[in-house]
Amino acid sequence: MKKRSPRKAGKLALQAHILDGLRDSVILVNEKREVVGYNRAARELLHLNIKGLDLALSLPHQRVIEAADDVLGGKPPRTVEVSLSNPIARTFELHASVLPAKVPGKAVWALLVMHDVTESKTAEKIRADFVANISHELRSPLTSLCGFIETLKGVGRDDAGSRDWFLGIMEAEAKRMTRLVDDLLSLSRVEAMEHIRPDDTLAIKHLLREVVETVSARGRRKGIEVELDCAGSLPAVVGDRDELNEVFHNLLDNAIKYGREKTPARVTARVSEDFPGLGGEGVSVAVENTGDGIEPKHIPRLTERFYRVDKGRSREMGGTGLGLAIVKHIVNRHRGHLAITSTPGEKTVFTVFLPSA
Ligand SMILES: Nc1ncnc2c1ncn2[C@@H]1O[C@H](COP(=O)(O)OP(=O)(O)OP(=O)(O)O)[C@@H](O)[C@H]1O
Ligand SMILES: [Mg+2]
Repeated sequence: MKKRSPRKAGKLALQAHILDGLRDSVILVNEKREVVGYNRAARELLHLNIKGLDLALSLPHQRVIEAADDVLGGKPPRTVEVSLSNPIARTFELHASVLPAKVPGKAVWALLVMHDVTESKTAEKIRADFVANISHELRSPLTSLCGFIETLKGVGRDDAGSRDWFLGIMEAEAKRMTRLVDDLLSLSRVEAMEHIRPDDTLAIKHLLREVVETVSARGRRKGIEVELDCAGSLPAVVGDRDELNEVFHNLLDNAIKYGREKTPARVTARVSEDFPGLGGEGVSVAVENTGDGIEPKHIPRLTERFYRVDKGRSREMGGTGLGLAIVKHIVNRHRGHLAITSTPGEKTVFTVFLPSA
């Protein structure tokens, strides 16, 4: 075995430490594509434990093998995308390049560096879906507005009856677009503030009373009486008045919209001693309605932007599918918690937990 000078051995150990400290996986393959070295991240990710085996055994992905072969064959460095599914699905960008030969004319080795891009890929997809959804949501009312304008300019011009009818629909569509834009602005405002906890303190009882008063008239039109039941003494909560108003307004709006006619909707505020996930004291506010309810498979997705159980029905009622996404972000900003339970055919309860001041 070749003897190394202490200085050289120290330098190699330092290099190994540096490589092991990297979060990216680093793999070194020789001219025969055999794995001759790797850092800790690569060892854990690919369960590497023996050197000298073909790279294809550890990373059996056509694109990776081609990239390694190409750079070993003298082609320029390149980056390929690799998806691994075990233990959980993750996406990596693998950059393959060659290390210069130690001695001129000798075979070169390839260096493969794998960088985890799962988060940025997911964010990219969410952003792309979001833009596609907004475009779609704006396109439907715009298409119908354009259609009615055409009609009013043509055959409908002289017919007063249909003119009024068309104008009524156009007004509803324009209001729908305004609501969508308002909700989007509200969502982006809340998202931008999410990391900053509000610093005001407020009494939830007064706020709930105000919201219930505001929505009561709408409830009555459907025969839904909104009942408010607050525990005698509730601790004050840390909160932004306008935002919490929006939370309970959205939840009650849903309770009335999706509640069964001539059944009551109920708001119950209580002291909560075991704050979910965090412990500590808080206030829980449950908004409950009788109705068709929500099947369990939809529940985890309800707070996604634009997610609606029945798209047609929600749209008919003027919904944009952003209400619960706004609720979730506001509750997160308050370091609170939102719980959703529903018994299909019976009732639905949305409970907001807010930590006390
Ligand atoms: N109380 C409820 N009972 C039954 N389904 C509900 C209830 N609340 C919400 N949902 C379902 O969750 C979906 C998402 O609700 P969300 O409030 O985000 O959107 P929306 O009410 O359709 O529109 P928006 O609130 O933006 O006007 C609704 O479309 C509906 O399918
Ligand atoms: Mg809603």
